[in-house]
Order: sequence, then structure tokens, then C-alpha cells
Amino acid sequence: MAAMFLAVSCGGKKAQKVLVLYYTQTGNTKLVAEQISGKMQADIEEIVAVNPYDGDFTETIERCLKEREEGVIPEIQPLKADLSKYDVIFIGYPVWFGTYAPPVIKFLQDYDLSGKEVVPFCTFGSGGLESSMADMKLAQSNAKIDCGFGIRAARLDKVGEEVGIFLKENDFIEGKYIKLDAFSEQHEVTEEENAIFEAATGDYPMLHAKAKTVATRAIHNGTEYCFIAVDIPRVQRDDMPPAGEIQVYVNVVGDEAPVFTRVVR
Ligand SMILES: Cc1cc2nc3c(=O)[nH]c(=O)nc-3n(C[C@H](O)[C@H](O)[C@H](O)COP(=O)(O)O)c2cc1C
Repeated sequence: MAAMFLAVSCGGKKAQKVLVLYYTQTGNTKLVAEQISGKMQADIEEIVAVNPYDGDFTETIERCLKEREEGVIPEIQPLKADLSKYDVIFIGYPVWFGTYAPPVIKFLQDYDLSGKEVVPFCTFGSGGLESSMADMKLAQSNAKIDCGFGIRAARLDKVGEEVGIFLKENDFIEGKYIKLDAFSEQHEVTEEENAIFEAATGDYPMLHAKAKTVATRAIHNGTEYCFIAVDIPRVQRDDMPPAGEIQVYVNVVGDEAPVFTRVVR
């Protein structure tokens, strides 16, 4: 089993001028934005759509699909903040269809972030940090986008702790944190590991996956698993990702039931 050790961040980037921008539909991303701005004493502003997405989940999916079909990107209200005053801009969003929600597409079209350090952060049902970061790098190729933060909506009770670790790991704030070692090599899943995978993912409706191999590493008070699995959606719909190989990260901490922390497609 891999080890962990105590690391100390000297907060080398804390003198920089930081702005936290975020879009939220149902409030989850706002919680992350407030944690980041609170811990960094940074300015914060919400990205607001002119015609808000205020429908329920199904209505929002339908509106997005229609907008996509028609090539519509919704307008946003002009920002109050003057971006030229900031060195670092955190940009938060809910993951919609594997990337940032449309108001953030519009923000990235309307504003030039060349030369700035940009830090994406997001909330999601199952995952989408990696794919949305890749899209943001394409949208703002002259910005410096090195690290990003994502958390499942189902794990928002851990948001303060996880944002703190992320900010220390990336030198934005000072403090001690536990640095995790690399994962072990992937090996075929044992029966016990398969049971952990099933317990973590079995009741999540958007995931219908079978674990093939797994790697592990020690985390505080438990083990983190990185499963390689094949996802076969129960019903294939246009608004769901296609079947394919995915990575599913699962934490088992103390006596708590296994939980998946993110899916990478
Ligand atoms: C239209 C729509 C599409 C979504 N697509 C995804 C997705 O592709 N992957 C995912 O993990 N979660 C997806 N979600 C779930 C949201 O990312 C999640 O609920 C998020 O925490 C909402 O954040 P908010 O409260 O800041 O709006 C989607 C939600 C909506 C409404």
C-alpha cells in the first residue's frame, strides 16, 4: 500500500489579486465559490444569464438540447468586476453535458483572459472536471490553466475540507495538508474490490458500469480506489454519454460506506 506524508504549503501565490467568478443554477457551485473566496479573501461575482435557466432538471435539459440544435449561446449580464485588475481568476460552473454550463461558454466568448492564471472549479453529478478543463483550454488558449477543482454534488458536506486541501496543494494559501502518494499499478479486481465498486456506484442512475481493473492508494483513515470500468448506459439517449471505458474514483474511509468521488470519461 502506498504511503502519505504531511506537506506544508507556504502560500506563495497569496499576494496575487484574485477574483472568483461563478455560474450556478441550483446553488451548489455557489457553495464552492464562497469557500474559495472566503479562504483567499478574494472578490467574488456571479455570472448571471439574461434569461435564467430557472426550470427543473428536465426543462433545463430540454432547453439546452433545443439551444444546441439551434446554435444558441445564451446572453449573460455584463460583469461588474474589471478583469484587468486581477492576476488569478477562478471560474466556477456546474457541469452540463460533460462541460461548463452555457452561461460560462458565453463568458469565455465575451472576455479575454490572455496572460491570466485561470483556475476552473465545478460541481457535478458524477464528473466532468477534466473534459471541461480541456474545453476551457481550447476556448482561452492564451490563459494559463494548470489546475482545477471538482466535487460531486452528493459530497458537498466535504467542500470546506477539500477546497482547503486544493488551495494548499496549489500554493494559494498557507498550511499543512496530507500529500497522497501515487496509485499502485492497476490489477484485476478481486471479489472484495468489486463489492466496493458496486456499493459505491450501484444506486447512481446515470452510471451502469462494470469494473475491470483497479489501483489503490492510502488516504487519511482509509483507501482510495481508481477503478477502470466499462460504462454501458441502461438506455442510450442523446443527452447521455456513450458506452465506453471510464475511470471511477472511490473512497472508503473508516466505517463509512464506499462513495465514488468522480468519474473520468
Ligand atoms: C442540464 C444539466 C446537465 C447536466 N449534465 C451533467 C453531466 O454531464 N455530468 C454530471 O456529472 N452532472 C451533470 N449535471 C448535474 C449538475 O452538474 C450538478 O447537479 C451540479 O452540482 C449543479 O450545480 P449548481 O447547483 O451550481 O447549478 C447536469 C445538470 C443539468 C441541469
